[in-house]
Amino acid sequence: MKLPFSLTASAALCVAAGSALSIDRREPYEIYRFPGRIPGLGGNEAQQDVGSTWSSGVNIPLEVWRRGKTDLQWAGEITVGTPPQRFKVIFDTGSPYLLLPRDNCTTCSPEQNLFNPFLSSTFSSSPGIPLQLFFGTAGGGTRPTNTSQGANCTAVTDTVAISFPSITGYGQQFLLCDYYSSGLATQPADGIFGLGPLPTDFWPDQASNTTAEFETAYWNWINNTGGNLGPEFGFYLLGPKPQLTVGGTDARLYYPSTVRTIGLDVQLSIMRASWVAGLGAVRVNNQYLLSNTSSAIRDDVTLLDTGSAIILTPDFTTAAQIYNFLSPEIGPLDNLGSWGGPCEVLDEIAWTEDITFTVGTGERSVEVGLVKGAFNLGVFDDSRPGICQAVFVSPTQTAREPIRGRLAWVLGTPVLKGYYTVWNGREMEVGFGELKTGRGGEWVKGKGKRGKGWGKGFGKGKGRGSGAFSLLGSRWRRD
Ligand SMILES: *[C@@H]1O[C@H](CO)[C@@H](O)[C@H](O)[C@H]1NC(C)=O
Ligand SMILES: *[C@@H]1O[C@H](CO)[C@@H](O)[C@H](O)[C@H]1NC(C)=O
Ligand SMILES: *[C@@H]1O[C@H](CO)[C@@H](O)[C@H](O)[C@H]1NC(C)=O
Ligand SMILES: *[C@@H]1O[C@H](CO)[C@@H](O)[C@H](O)[C@H]1NC(C)=O
Ligand SMILES: *[C@@H]1O[C@H](CO)[C@@H](O)[C@H](O)[C@H]1NC(C)=O
Ligand SMILES: *[C@@H]1O[C@H](CO)[C@@H](O)[C@H](O)[C@H]1NC(C)=O
Repeated sequence: MKLPFSLTASAALCVAAGSALSIDRREPYEIYRFPGRIPGLGGNEAQQDVGSTWSSGVNIPLEVWRRGKTDLQWAGEITVGTPPQRFKVIFDTGSPYLLLPRDNCTTCSPEQNLFNPFLSSTFSSSPGIPLQLFFGTAGGGTRPTNTSQGANCTAVTDTVAISFPSITGYGQQFLLCDYYSSGLATQPADGIFGLGPLPTDFWPDQASNTTAEFETAYWNWINNTGGNLGPEFGFYLLGPKPQLTVGGTDARLYYPSTVRTIGLDVQLSIMRASWVAGLGAVRVNNQYLLSNTSSAIRDDVTLLDTGSAIILTPDFTTAAQIYNFLSPEIGPLDNLGSWGGPCEVLDEIAWTEDITFTVGTGERSVEVGLVKGAFNLGVFDDSRPGICQAVFVSPTQTAREPIRGRLAWVLGTPVLKGYYTVWNGREMEVGFGELKTGRGGEWVKGKGKRGKGWGKGFGKGKGRGSGAFSLLGSRWRRD
């Protein structure tokens, strides 16, 4: 196992040798499906009234990083230090730390902005805890690799801000890195802004065999505004102007009355310092995909991760079941977890099949769907132009959560970008609302239909663990 912990899957990485071929697909920005009623479970109990206070906050414009027509990562600008130095960071709900490159990082890309501590009057090298991070396989890209990925960093302190409208977090501890492996160095963003739900996190201090608590950057912002901002943030990842709203949501982008809110698995979310919910069912065109009717409801869990451009199944078998159901022409493309097949087969599935997931814990769950077209990630490898990668990636080792050993998934942006998502770490819940934008971000008035209802929950528990991409590998068990 890797050292102190492993910063995996999530936002961090980049596509290994990804092909830059453009993928000829239809309009990817189509609302795929809004949560519908779960047969036999019914109920509307999970619906939450949304007050006007939700339509407030500070907007951060995002840029999307694409390969072909596949959206990989979204980044926005923050400033660090006094006077401010500017950085593009990936806003990643799959990790809790702010991570930036230092001016003496020689492995970083010349395109990346590096932080120079000597130019900042507010910089402090305290707490000075060194951390070696390890990243998982696919990271921010879509294609798992077997090369070792990571960063060497030190926890330091400075002011972290958004310049306009201004929000400032004074005395923010973050990771300053003097080594980026290729996965981090080749992505266009400079760093990663972890948006975990928790107000504090810990640095593992190996030298003293202790941990040191710090306030996370998001909560430092919220707490510093003296109650002017709410606890939640909202992601809008579609269209030409993707946006993160901090301390509220932007009601111009979604229909607040359609928001359906799920409760997180609080214990796992705290352990994992990220957004973990139950996963109850996977369906294709209303047919339960992974099991027959006697055992249609899974007891799995999933990480909700804006830093993942794929859906990571808990194991090889699950991916095999899904693909066997969808097409005999889809199979493994390598022995690292990529699957795919003829591009036209994937396109057909991408645009005709409704693939949905029942996400939530206990009484509060919702059915969310893969965005139309998102099943096909595009050409896998330049040397095989007709072969495309499909959205489900399998880990090389089964991923399980550490408490009850349930199978763990990662639901990334192929699902999340189909909704306006509202993330509330105070209430430990995530809302999914219907977007106002239609294709390509054009405004479509009145297109929104109300969600029809919710599953009332599916009895006992959730699933198992999510692992290949876990940020803190030591918090998850793998087998
Ligand atoms: C990594 O994967 C590639 C492609 O699958 C393979 O050629 C290579 O031998 C692997 N390297 C290691 C160290 O496993
Ligand atoms: C990263 O840190 C580890 C542990 O301190 C060290 O062994 C390794 O050489 C460092 N890597 C680089 C590229 O500096
Ligand atoms: C970068 O600078 C810091 C502070 O002086 C130092 O501790 C670290 O070793 C340097 N890293 C490299 C790769 O030179
Ligand atoms: C570190 O702390 C753990 C838990 O208290 C203990 O089991 C371990 O022996 C300690 N290691 C060292 C090197 O002190
Ligand atoms: C910041 O706000 C969170 C959530 O309300 C709270 O738990 C935390 O204690 C606050 N931190 C500080 C330093 O005030
Ligand atoms: C349905 O599930 C039951 C229990 O797992 C199993 O015994 C049966 O073979 C399954 N039927 C089919 C058609 O897969």
